[in-house]
Amino acid sequence: MPTTLLQSDLPGLELLHRGKVRDVYALPGNRLLIVASDRLSAFDVVLPDPIPGKGEMLTQISNFWFAKTGHLVPNHLLHTPLSEVLPAGTDLALYEKRAVVTRRLKPVPVEAIARGYLIGSGWKDYQATGAVCGIALPAGLKQAQQLPEPIFTPSTKAAVGDHDENVSFDAVVAAVGAELAEQVREATLAIYKWAAAYAAGRGIILADTKLEFGTDEDGKLYVMDEMLTPDSSRYWPADEYQVGISPPSYDKQFVRDYLETLDWNKTAPGPRVPAEVIGRTEAKYAEALRRLADIELG
Ligand SMILES: Nc1ncnc2c1ncn2[C@@H]1O[C@H](COP(=O)(O)OP(=O)(O)OP(=O)(O)O)[C@@H](O)[C@H]1O
Ligand SMILES: [Mg+2]
Repeated sequence: MPTTLLQSDLPGLELLHRGKVRDVYALPGNRLLIVASDRLSAFDVVLPDPIPGKGEMLTQISNFWFAKTGHLVPNHLLHTPLSEVLPAGTDLALYEKRAVVTRRLKPVPVEAIARGYLIGSGWKDYQATGAVCGIALPAGLKQAQQLPEPIFTPSTKAAVGDHDENVSFDAVVAAVGAELAEQVREATLAIYKWAAAYAAGRGIILADTKLEFGTDEDGKLYVMDEMLTPDSSRYWPADEYQVGISPPSYDKQFVRDYLETLDWNKTAPGPRVPAEVIGRTEAKYAEALRRLADIELG
């Protein structure tokens, strides 16, 4: 059975950050302990009900892709056994599938997004301007259409509650310098292309994905945070894909659809979510893990 954890509690470790999903602790030796909880956020608001096992699934999917793409881009994982770093008396079973030990990196302040298909904010920007993040695209493309070539469409990391904003590559250069900007773009596209081809072989379209990067004391670049999870990526079942319509995806669509039926203004506090919607969302995450990585939790 998957475990359920809404909020981690690790006495003796320094809590650096409680994000929407992850709790981040400092470890000696410039390392982090990152725990993925079962918190569910929608429209950037954390909802009161957890999705049991979601953090385990997210961590297992990330670990799968970090291993698969390690030959392309170095990543933050250190592979230290959790039993060595958890405080004495911690329930190892509660943490072992949802926590990782990583290098503690300096975040590159950009959401590194690669898109192979025209959907979401990319589709919105294209309709308004014919371009995405300043990259001009051919005229006449339809919603969810595959792009001639995957593109790098960075956005700025918004403060809590705000929505991220698409920016041009030049804006990234201005923020972090040309060399790092180029490295991030190359790494993002390399990972996207590799993963999209892998997913295609399993009957799944990887429409787009968001990566985060960080640098170490020597300025070396690593991919960090989560990788190619249903939270950070749009996965579409290939057999249901059709140009011109927004395809069903493996992510929070059930929850979003449910929330759209409510009279809720999408600011905190979020509403309770019925057990049926929780159950269907849980099943979707499990299906993504099974179909992509052949991993069964439980
Ligand atoms: N190896 C790493 N070194 C430093 N920071 C990291 C590393 N891996 C992940 N992070 C940071 O840890 C946090 C993970 O928390 P989580 O994903 O829940 O945050 P979030 O809700 O997406 O965003 P926010 O940080 O704005 O709350 C992110 O801020 C991420 O940038
Ligand atoms: Mg995050």
